[in-house]
Amino acid sequence: MNTDGKKLVVFFSHTGENYNVGYIEKGNTNILADMIAEATGADTFEIVPEKGYPKDSYNDCIEIAKEELQSDARPAVKGDVNVEDYDIIFIGYPNWWGNPPMCVYTFIEKHDWNGKTVIPFITHEGSGMGGTDRKIAAACKGANTLTGKGLAVQGKVAQENQASAQKSVERWLEGLGMKK
Ligand SMILES: Cc1cc2nc3c(=O)[nH]c(=O)nc-3n(C[C@H](O)[C@H](O)[C@H](O)COP(=O)(O)O)c2cc1C
Repeated sequence: MNTDGKKLVVFFSHTGENYNVGYIEKGNTNILADMIAEATGADTFEIVPEKGYPKDSYNDCIEIAKEELQSDARPAVKGDVNVEDYDIIFIGYPNWWGNPPMCVYTFIEKHDWNGKTVIPFITHEGSGMGGTDRKIAAACKGANTLTGKGLAVQGKVAQENQASAQKSVERWLEGLGMKK
């Protein structure tokens, strides 16, 4: 793989009440996204849904997430970035029942992924990558998605043990030949 191309980190991350970490100001996946961008010199873009998920109640958040998953929704997202200008795109998201949040698909489906290298990363609370990398590969049509080579870090570790998360990020990027 050519690791010299222009790099972008795209991510979705939920703030507010979250599983196992209480109320958080910066999402778990956001923490990893920043580490990856810093280590690789990538630009970043945050996928922010126009209708945000409730922050004060975890249960309200999962109700909406469940409805979106069951209806295969494509919630509108704010702004955009020209993926077409980049060669290597890291895509990060939390594991929501073995899926990325549906707004990640909204973003993906706006773009042309032909010839891109896509590298998934995820935070979770026990389910790991959970096959979501294959779903990302199917959605990013025409891309070379590095399924089986993505990074999975427990959300609580990203949030509360950043030295450990940082080590995981660095080891993973080294394995990909991807350090700045
Ligand atoms: C709607 C919802 C569904 C979730 N489903 C799972 C799951 O199936 N497996 C798992 O390991 N974690 C699950 N989690 C936990 C998140 O993956 C975990 O807290 C993650 O680190 C959140 O990242 P974020 O702060 O970037 O949004 C779920 C969280 C939410 C809000």
